[in-house]
Amino acid sequence: MSTVPNTNILIVDDDERNLMALQELLQSPMQNLVLASSGEEALRHVLRDDFAVILLDVRMPGLDGFATAKLIRECKRSRHTPIMFLTAVSEDVSSMFRGYQAGAVDYMIKPLIPEVLKSKIAVFVELHNKNATLAGEIAERKLVEERLRESQENLRALATHLQSVREEEQTRIAREIHDELGQALTGLKMDLTWLASRLPAGQKPLINKTTSMFQLMDNTIQAVRRIASGLRPEVLDEVGVAAAIAWQAREFQKRTGIRCKAALPTDDLALGAEKSTAVFRIFQEVLTNVARHANATRVDILMQLDAETLVLQVQDNGNGISETDIHSPKSLGLLGMRERVLPFGGTIEVTGRSGAGTKVVVSVPVR
Ligand SMILES: Nc1ncnc2c1ncn2[C@@H]1O[C@H](COP(=O)(O)OP(=O)(O)OP(=O)(O)O)[C@@H](O)[C@H]1O
Ligand SMILES: [Mg+2]
Repeated sequence: MSTVPNTNILIVDDDERNLMALQELLQSPMQNLVLASSGEEALRHVLRDDFAVILLDVRMPGLDGFATAKLIRECKRSRHTPIMFLTAVSEDVSSMFRGYQAGAVDYMIKPLIPEVLKSKIAVFVELHNKNATLAGEIAERKLVEERLRESQENLRALATHLQSVREEEQTRIAREIHDELGQALTGLKMDLTWLASRLPAGQKPLINKTTSMFQLMDNTIQAVRRIASGLRPEVLDEVGVAAAIAWQAREFQKRTGIRCKAALPTDDLALGAEKSTAVFRIFQEVLTNVARHANATRVDILMQLDAETLVLQVQDNGNGISETDIHSPKSLGLLGMRERVLPFGGTIEVTGRSGAGTKVVVSVPVR
C-alpha cells in the first residue's frame, strides 16, 4: 500500500492574527501548514515545495494577492495549484472577477465560515492526494514499460547474436565437409582409377566391382556438395546475394517441380555479408513456405535496387496466406524473417489473396 505524504497547505496573509486564526482552524496531523506573511515570501515557498492549495489574502502591502497569484501561475511548479482568495466583505464584485482572472479557483469572503472553508480545503487536499497517487502509478508503469522495452531489446540482441553464431558455425562446418571430405573422396577416386587400370583383363567380377565403386563414389561426392551448400552456399560468399538467389531458385525448381521465374539485377549490389545472408535466408524460408503451404505451380521472383533500398519480391500463385496467419504470434517463421531484417532497419510485408497466391516483399536499406 502506498502512503500519502503529509499534504502542504500554504496560507498567505500580512495580518499575523489572521494567520494564527487560520492555523488554529486548519490544524490536522495529516496537513502541513506553511505560513507566509507577504506575496514575496509565498513565492519563495512555491518555488521550493508543492502545495495542495494556497489560501491567499487579497489586500497586502507590496505584492498584493492578484499580483502574487499571477506570479504563482507563471511558476512551472505551481502552475496548476488551486488558489483560494480570502478577502474582506467590503470589497466589491469586480475584484472577484479580477481574482478569477488571476487564476483563482475559489473566492471566499471574510468573516469565513469555518466548516465551509474546512470542507472546501478537504476537497482540494483529496484531489491533490489522488493526483499524487496517480502520478506515482504512472511513474511505476513507465518504469515497468522501460524494463519491458529493455528486456525486449536484450532478447532481440540475443536472437541476432544466436543467429550469427549459427551462421558462422554452419559456414565452418560446410567448409570442413567440403574441404576435408571432398578432398579425401577425390583422392580415393584417383586411387581407384589407378587400381582399375591395373586389373588383369578378363577379371569380370573385379571390373564390375570397381564400376559400382565409381558410381558410389560419385554419388557420395555429389551428396557432400549438396550437404555443404545446404549449410552455406559458396556462391553467396563468392558471387553475392543475387547469384545465390538465382541458384537457390533453380535448386528449388529441380527439387519441387514448381516453376521459378527470377528477374534479378546483374551488377554487384555490395550489400555486405550480414545483409546478404539475411536476405538469402529469408528467401529460403519463403520458398520453404511455398513448398509446404501454398500448393503453387509457379513462383515469380523480382529483385531490384529502389533508391537506397534493396527490394526482393516473391510472389506465388498458390492458395494465398490468410490474414490470421500473417498476424499470428504462432507464425514463428514469419516472425523470424522480420527479426532478421530489423537490425538493418528493414521490413517484411506479407500479403495474401485467397486463391490468388501470396506475396512477400523484403526491403533492406543498402547503406
Ligand atoms: N506461401 C504461403 N502460402 C499459403 N500459406 C502460407 C504461405 N506461407 C505461410 N503460410 C501460412 O502461414 C503460416 C505461418 O508460416 P510460418 O512460416 O510462420 O510457419 P510454418 O511454416 O508453419 O512453420 P515454420 O516456418 O516455423 O517451420 C503457415 O503455417 C501457413 O499456414
Ligand atoms: Mg515457415
